[in-house]
Amino acid sequence: MRAVDIIRKKRNGHALEPAEIAAMVAGIASGEVADYQWSALLMAIVWRGMDASETAALTDAMIRSGTIVDLSSIAGVKVDKHSTGGVGDKTSIILAPIAAAAGVPVPMVSGRGLGHTGGTLDKLESIPGFRVDLDLARYREVLARCNLVMIGQTAEIAPADKYLYAMRDATATVESIPLIAASIMSKKLAEGIDGLVLDVKTGNGAFMERLDDSRALATAMCEIGAGLGKAIVALITRMDQPLGRAAGNAVEIAESIECLRGEGPEDLVDLSVELAAEMVVLGGVAGSLDEARAVCRRTIADGTALAAFARLIEAQGGDPRVVDDLDRLPSPRTRVDIESPRDGFVRSLAARPVGHATMLLGAGRARMDSRIDHAVGVLLHRKEGDRVVRGEPLCTLLVNDEARLAEATAIIRDAYAISDAPAPARPLILERIAAGPGPRQAPVARPSSHDVS
Ligand code: URA
Repeated sequence: MRAVDIIRKKRNGHALEPAEIAAMVAGIASGEVADYQWSALLMAIVWRGMDASETAALTDAMIRSGTIVDLSSIAGVKVDKHSTGGVGDKTSIILAPIAAAAGVPVPMVSGRGLGHTGGTLDKLESIPGFRVDLDLARYREVLARCNLVMIGQTAEIAPADKYLYAMRDATATVESIPLIAASIMSKKLAEGIDGLVLDVKTGNGAFMERLDDSRALATAMCEIGAGLGKAIVALITRMDQPLGRAAGNAVEIAESIECLRGEGPEDLVDLSVELAAEMVVLGGVAGSLDEARAVCRRTIADGTALAAFARLIEAQGGDPRVVDDLDRLPSPRTRVDIESPRDGFVRSLAARPVGHATMLLGAGRARMDSRIDHAVGVLLHRKEGDRVVRGEPLCTLLVNDEARLAEATAIIRDAYAISDAPAPARPLILERIAAGPGPRQAPVARPSSHDVS
């Protein structure tokens, strides 16, 4: 099997055999396939696509490029959650302790910020002392102790994805549904889970802006998971305004803790509870989504979710006192309000520019090797549908370095559209897709729901 023949076959629009895909992936570690050959194949895949069986074969080969973590020594149905990324999306930090407190073991392997979107690992590292770089032995230990662990991708988990992701970044081949689906699912399925809940974002702050593309990505990921015997649920959720009221790192940890105390903003709490409830059903702790929602809300009301988060922080080297004292988190030198230019209602608050401005303030990376500032970010006092009065603060920028403050301010001003009448309220959760062997239950009061397996 020669790499050049496989590349030509895909270039000419034919489906590849699983053995051909496996040979190309194995060639990364053995050195038998050169970088330029993979780069040509990636571009051919972007143009010609991959069908479901090719995407499954690629995922399988990427999983097998590293260790498939064995969590069989830990009792229970292990369930993780993954978001395709957005602005102010800190649901993982809220729902993981909720699901763990409800009785579902949650082994979570997360990522860093990408482009205008934030990353769970960067946010967690704003907690003084918190370590996300645990090895696999410690990963198992913390999971066994806390029913929850939150780390970054290790060298052992899907190393072929690490190689291909870097190559895609440098060859303009990121934007491909089969490549994105295989990349996400290979990492998730290698971490030892039985079930997975996906939050597939759609809208101007998401990587997939169109609902059709988000649905195709969600379906591809569900099919991959189901094909490998895992229970998968995907919610397609709106990301055209930031989630919650905080965007940054420490400020998002503070908001997550407020949610776990029962004090967070409604959109963020509701979505976190909904995703956690899906995990609780997949984990077999509740028989229906209604029951699971009640279980999840109880873990907030009785403090067990917050206690689970404090235990996790301590187990991963952090200062657990932050859950009682938010002043222990890094704070900025300056706060700058942006005032409303007129009376009216917030018609829209575009997520992508808010993410971009947050990055300019230092909360995200301009380059792979940039250092991020955990203290900075944005606090949004007014969002879609809110009434505003001329001169009152729409939001507050949390600032340490004023070098790009003027630029960030201009971007955020433009992100707000203010009109005379309020925009009609829109649902946050647009669709639900379920696949695989786990329990499946039709949701209540959602516009659309279907199964793919
Ligand atoms: N996140 C990933 O892990 N992989 C992709 O390809 C895109 C987003």
